Amino acid sequence: MAADLTFYINGRKVVEKNADPEEMLLGYLRRKVGLTGTKYGCGEGGCGACTVMVSRYDPVQDSINHCAVTSCLVPVCSLHGSAVVTVEGVGSTRTKLHPVQERIAKAHGSQCGFCTPGMVMSMYTLLRNNPKPTMEDIREALGGNLCRCTGYRPIIDGFKTFCDVNQGGKCCMDNGYFHNQEDQICEELFKAEDFLPLDPTQDIIFPPELLLLGKKQDHGQLCFQSERVKWISPALLKDLIHLKAQYPDAPLMMGNTTLGLKVNVKRALFPVIIYAGWIPELREITWSSNGLRVGAGCSLSVLKDVLQKGIKDLSPEKSEVYQTLIQTLHSLASKQIRNMATIGGNIMSSDPKYDLCSVLAASGCTLRIISKAGVCEMVLDDKFFTDFGKTVLQEDAILLSINIPHSKPWEFISTFRQAQRREFSFSFVNSGMKVSFREQSAVVESLEIFYGGVGSTLVKARNTGKELRGRLWNEKLLSKGIELLKVEISLSSAIPRGREEYRKTLVLSFFYKFYMEILLELRKKGVAVSDVPPEYLSALKPHGNELPHGHHTFQMVPEIQSSTDPVGCPIMHQAAFQQATGEAQYYDDIPSVKGELFVSMVTSTRAHAKLISIDASEALSIPGVVTFITAEHVPGQNRRVWFGNVEELFAEEEVICVGQIIGAIVAENREIAKRASCLVSVTYEDLLPVFFTIEEAIEHQSFFEPKRKLERGNVEEGFEKSDHILEGELYMGGQEHFYMETQGVIAVPRAEAGEMELYVATQHAAFTQEVVGLTLGVNSNKISCHVKRLGGGFGGKVMKIASLSAIAATAAYRTGRAVRCVLERGDDMLITSGRHPFLGRYKVGYMNDGTILAADITYYSNGGCTLDESSFIMEKALLHMDNGYKIPHLRGRGLVCRTFLPSYTAFRGFGGPQGLTIIESVLHEVASRCGLPAHQVREVNMYKSERCYTHHQQLFSPVDMLRCWHECLEKSNYEQRLLAIQKFNSSNNWRKRGLSIVPLKFGIGFSKGFYNQGAALVNIYKDGSVLVSHGGTEMGQGINTKAIQIASRVLNVPMSSIHVKETCTGNVPNAAPSAASFGTDAVGMAVKDACEKLIARLQPLRKQNPEHTWQQLVVEAYCQKISLSATGFFMGPHTGVDWERSKGAAYYYFTFGACCSEVEIDCLTGDHENIRTDIVMDVGKSLNPALDIGQIEGGFIQGLGLYTIEELHFSPDGVLKTRGLSDYKIPAIVDIPHTLNIHLLSNAQNPHAIYSSKGIGEPPVFFGCTVFFAIKEAIAAARRERKLSKSFNISSPATPEKIRMACEDNFTTVVTSSKNKHWSPWTINV
Ligand SMILES: Cc1cc2nc3c(=O)[nH]c(=O)nc-3n(C[C@H](O)[C@H](O)[C@H](O)COP(=O)(O)OP(=O)(O)OC[C@H]3O[C@@H](n4cnc5c(N)ncnc54)[C@H](O)[C@@H]3O)c2cc1C
Ligand code: FES
Ligand code: FES
Repeated sequence: MAADLTFYINGRKVVEKNADPEEMLLGYLRRKVGLTGTKYGCGEGGCGACTVMVSRYDPVQDSINHCAVTSCLVPVCSLHGSAVVTVEGVGSTRTKLHPVQERIAKAHGSQCGFCTPGMVMSMYTLLRNNPKPTMEDIREALGGNLCRCTGYRPIIDGFKTFCDVNQGGKCCMDNGYFHNQEDQICEELFKAEDFLPLDPTQDIIFPPELLLLGKKQDHGQLCFQSERVKWISPALLKDLIHLKAQYPDAPLMMGNTTLGLKVNVKRALFPVIIYAGWIPELREITWSSNGLRVGAGCSLSVLKDVLQKGIKDLSPEKSEVYQTLIQTLHSLASKQIRNMATIGGNIMSSDPKYDLCSVLAASGCTLRIISKAGVCEMVLDDKFFTDFGKTVLQEDAILLSINIPHSKPWEFISTFRQAQRREFSFSFVNSGMKVSFREQSAVVESLEIFYGGVGSTLVKARNTGKELRGRLWNEKLLSKGIELLKVEISLSSAIPRGREEYRKTLVLSFFYKFYMEILLELRKKGVAVSDVPPEYLSALKPHGNELPHGHHTFQMVPEIQSSTDPVGCPIMHQAAFQQATGEAQYYDDIPSVKGELFVSMVTSTRAHAKLISIDASEALSIPGVVTFITAEHVPGQNRRVWFGNVEELFAEEEVICVGQIIGAIVAENREIAKRASCLVSVTYEDLLPVFFTIEEAIEHQSFFEPKRKLERGNVEEGFEKSDHILEGELYMGGQEHFYMETQGVIAVPRAEAGEMELYVATQHAAFTQEVVGLTLGVNSNKISCHVKRLGGGFGGKVMKIASLSAIAATAAYRTGRAVRCVLERGDDMLITSGRHPFLGRYKVGYMNDGTILAADITYYSNGGCTLDESSFIMEKALLHMDNGYKIPHLRGRGLVCRTFLPSYTAFRGFGGPQGLTIIESVLHEVASRCGLPAHQVREVNMYKSERCYTHHQQLFSPVDMLRCWHECLEKSNYEQRLLAIQKFNSSNNWRKRGLSIVPLKFGIGFSKGFYNQGAALVNIYKDGSVLVSHGGTEMGQGINTKAIQIASRVLNVPMSSIHVKETCTGNVPNAAPSAASFGTDAVGMAVKDACEKLIARLQPLRKQNPEHTWQQLVVEAYCQKISLSATGFFMGPHTGVDWERSKGAAYYYFTFGACCSEVEIDCLTGDHENIRTDIVMDVGKSLNPALDIGQIEGGFIQGLGLYTIEELHFSPDGVLKTRGLSDYKIPAIVDIPHTLNIHLLSNAQNPHAIYSSKGIGEPPVFFGCTVFFAIKEAIAAARRERKLSKSFNISSPATPEKIRMACEDNFTTVVTSSKNKHWSPWTINV
């Protein structure tokens, strides 16, 4: 028996004598080894932030396999004989960067940087296996890595440079960058020719010791025991059989991608784990003349490779089944997951939403089972599965291999799936279908139809298959099939994850697709079957899988600008190299200090209830639990107060939402704290009322104060003069921030005078400092907040983090020890909430030509249980309700609903997107009613004269908005594409395209005038180096980079001599939050101010010593006792609104833009493809075009998620169900438009902000609505063709389900719901 676990990390040997069976590689790397480059983003294999490369010798294939894996799902005990490479092992700024690291950084592919190490590792692994990848290889490699900041385009552009050029798509190497000297327009954001070449000798070699170990036939059985779990890894099949008989209840772990999710997310505990990853028989693969026998332990990646190679030697007829499997594997999970997950695990998990079983069953595959009782072979079909997670097998049975027979002549097989996101998402419904025909005929000999996702197990449409046997493959068969399936596949309305009607429709739509596919196949074979009208072939149109590309233009700096002046240049993010090497430190990367504790929250499970008792005795009895704290332990105020709004830190007497913090367990480490927090027992007494939705709040008249109104003109008069009146509404769902780094803080008490240091991921350090001070009853001058950087914020790290910090500080205060708090993803989603759902109800009066005379809109937002920032968010929605349109009579009312949900908070755009989208919806509907193109109606209504007033009477000029609009129309080739789309739609019945263009006028700055201020501190040291401190926080937007560019210009020193270390309340006090797209405006001005003061002080010396270098000048100044430190301050504008009079300059200025998007929908499934987006944006004179374009792309993609796939679900009891990436989908690479062009408006000015630039962080999110409206256009085209009514209601997000159901047809109308009076919806629209 082998005693120790032996593996390598970054070329260094690790021997673990007492490996912990419960420990995952991610935690081990970060906490035991101190390699914090690998990040935690979700803990469920869904984000790729934790990607590392694991290499193993495979004795079956006699090769070394390098695989990208998600380390959050890799048990350390499974690593025996493996070599792990993390981002730190790839390259470093101290030694040498790896080209992957260099290119992602220089191509501006790293904003907050939290996803960057994972991206690097996926790409590194790809290159390790294939130094000359294709575009498709890159797409596949990065498909499992999510980024919330960049929108992926720059990452792809950087990595494309590893491809051979001329591989289809446009590579940045052949972009033909030009500098148009005349217009001074530039397209070059980075110089690919400067990149380091790929040098494989830089790679860590696979350790020879591990090769020898791997080649040993029997390297013994490993056994580890922790307090709760025993781990056994046998090396031989006979031992495995014996162990499984001995421990029949123990799971047989392979890739751990199903089991790991249960442990990490659901906190399942398996007292014994049998790991079977070493058993050679489980990984054997043999091709025979009849088919393929694949070991159950083969990973899905290996299976895909084997199939891809194998089909080359087979006739197309025989390989049909394998081609279909390859297609399934392509969209199943991500590369990392496929590298880990096994085919046997996929089958044995018995989860109907998994994709493989339906197609394997249809293919007629058999399973070889082994146990102590012997070996047997059985058919894989619906009868193999007895319930969710259960099969007919005895507990001690092991799935040894799967036999997949070759396809036979006249046999056709297909697979279908539909999910929320096309790839890397569990399917709602999947299906495998196989039909065999009598030779040379269209007579069905057999038909096998299997569906997953329509019940608790795999379902076979047995009767349908039987009834259709012997029939001819024609329309009659189709109709009969639909009729039979409708009856046979009887989904229950109580099915988990709901969507009964949609799933039933998919069942029929998939059959229709299959029918069409086979019709074509038969025709190809020369069988006389009915003609397929060409427009119906669109049912089979494959998705475009090309790697996205784009085109960006921006104006170069003027020729007269000094070459040493970086302002206006596309400078790389200041910390990009550190981010790409994993050296960049986030709060949870800070090593633990001696005696550090961990705090884990105990949250309410009831939406509205009285707290009767809290019993923490069981939790406290666990060794390692130090204490349990509640409201009574708070030394100061148990309250977070903001603008007079009070929110309890810990609930005291009553809970008002599920997820409200009641108490917190403090323990020696995070595992114990988390485990113990689940053991705290709370007794509640439910209270009434309890409601969650906007509609219910309206019924209860449950609103927060103040209720706001803005009014221009005389709306009633406007209605009277109008040709038509239209009433309608639009609902927009909320959105989860999904910053890649979850919220958290480290509170370190100092021994002296009640001082406390906080290392915290906050966008508003001063507020956190204030709340912590009040909580502890200590003055702010003793509390210091340090913010190095945030792994994304998007508005979500302003408010709640202050409460979490105060709780961690309370724990630190009580214990006298440092306390760390890191929210797990599920808790983060539950506790911190996100963007407000909005409902806009409107009445609008318009003329025949689409001119809108009057609009009266009432906005309702769901504020949740406390006010938080909701009233300001509602104000912003109202202030943006005119967008770029001069509607003479306009009235908006805003009501924030008080419900029993977690409190909604700020999110990039801050109500702007909702306010804007609802008016855009009005325009869209008016155009549709008038039968006019939507862009024409928009144009008719736009502000046009030089001097215009908004509906709140703020003077502005729309000239640059109109320039953006016209340029966007031109650059997107709008008119021509509109015609092309009409043509496409008329010749494609099941695919429809839509195009939409919107303008944008977005207010910049805080409408609360006092927040419009910025401060900075600039220190020059004797060596000439400069340290800039400012009140903003770096969260990927590049505020530090811009601050350095500004300092460099003013001081005339190179950027390399200037550093921004951190944001600290001790350096720059009372700073405003980094929000409202105002960070750079405020901080930039303050930095400039400080630098100008310093330059003024140095000026006399400069005159006296013109020959002095900068450093000599600084030393001279020091010797002459001139202060080399200066503070800078920016007093921004006095914005504000008089709500009584509907009057006021709410914003400092406006950022303008226009965006045009084209989509294509699949009317049968509801899937959509983002074909192309063009954005023209006015950012004034960009301080840094690379960063600004990055903000535009990233914001747009975040908006694309908001309006299409990001859907939060609450149960009827108000419990958030979407608490991780299994259920909540943010855009992945597959979602971004195939073409994404960004143009910065040239010759734009802005007298109000630093160096004529403009704020850009928030505005582009709204542009995601172009995709929403383009989808609506596409649906409308489908409905027109089917002669359905023009008006249909589709709310945002336009998910596949909503798209499909809005494209009504014979399939949607025949499905009936099984809902009865006891039916309760699985989710509610809050
Ligand atoms: C992020 C993510 C996305 C995913 N997306 C998809 C998707 O789109 N489509 C899809 O189909 N699947 C998807 N999956 C599921 C994935 O394919 C399965 O989890 C995987 O195939 C299970 O294999 P495993 O080796 O990891 O099994 P494990 O987790 O190791 O084991 C799973 C179960 O199978 C049993 N078992 C495993 N092997 C055997 C055997 N040989 N004999 C007897 N019992 C055995 C174990 O006892 C255990 O109960 C996804 C998973 C993740 C984490
Ligand atoms: S995939 Fe491992 S943390 Fe997200
Ligand atoms: S840079 Fe990708 S998540 Fe921030």
